[in-house]
Amino acid sequence: MARTLMVAGNWKMNKSFLEGLVLANDAINHALGSANITVVLATPFIHLHTVGGMLKDYSHYMKLAAQNCHHESQGAYTGEISADMLRSVGAEYVILGHSERRAMGETDELLAKKASAAIKAGLKVIFCVGEPAEVRERNGQERFVKLQLERGLFNLADDEFRQITIAYEPIWAIGTGKTASPDQAQEMHAYIRSLVRQCYNNLVADECTILYGGSCNALNANDLFSKHDIDGGLIGGASLRAEEFGNIVKARAAKQYIRN
Ligand code: 13P
Repeated sequence: MARTLMVAGNWKMNKSFLEGLVLANDAINHALGSANITVVLATPFIHLHTVGGMLKDYSHYMKLAAQNCHHESQGAYTGEISADMLRSVGAEYVILGHSERRAMGETDELLAKKASAAIKAGLKVIFCVGEPAEVRERNGQERFVKLQLERGLFNLADDEFRQITIAYEPIWAIGTGKTASPDQAQEMHAYIRSLVRQCYNNLVADECTILYGGSCNALNANDLFSKHDIDGGLIGGASLRAEEFGNIVKARAAKQYIRN
């Protein structure tokens, strides 16, 4: 089986309810016709249910995602949302391990619990990893990302791991306008795939979708997506601009999948 090519928009904490509906409507229109890839809208919690309804007619390739979930399924956790609750409003994916949440104190151990809970609830997970600038400066990115994967993800069984999309998001590239070069990103993606191969097997590694995130936009998407191990993008800022998001989707859809 070919691996899934994907462009996911992470809106982060942006847009009022009505602004979000306008953005979703525009993003859907600009992404129409790219049914050979998976397009994901990761909205704030307040938009999920309504945007889920808007995606219904395109649900064979456009998917709804949340940006976080709790590791327990219910209970006295004021302000939290469980994976089951996300399923109940139509989410199919959840982003976990984003560096912006790790920076607020989420540990690898907590993320392992969240990933496991999300999969048990029937969600697919977009799991983010990536090194800060000072680690890149001393060339420590491989070791750093390896530890994040070993501690946060590699405890999953084969069939659970197949629900995972990995997003490599170097922290120094997020929201900075400083993208990893296609070669830098490819090098890390190939490394991540080799770790999946070691921990699981060839089939799981070949099918694992690995996204790049960090100042990915309509101008650099084409070069990034030309790389063999870059299966798509996790888009922050540019996903708030519907036409640009649509152009990134089109750039991904235009590139033929090349099997390992
Ligand atoms: P930017 O595209 O704004 O750099 O954000 C990337 C990101 O964090 C996506 O999750």
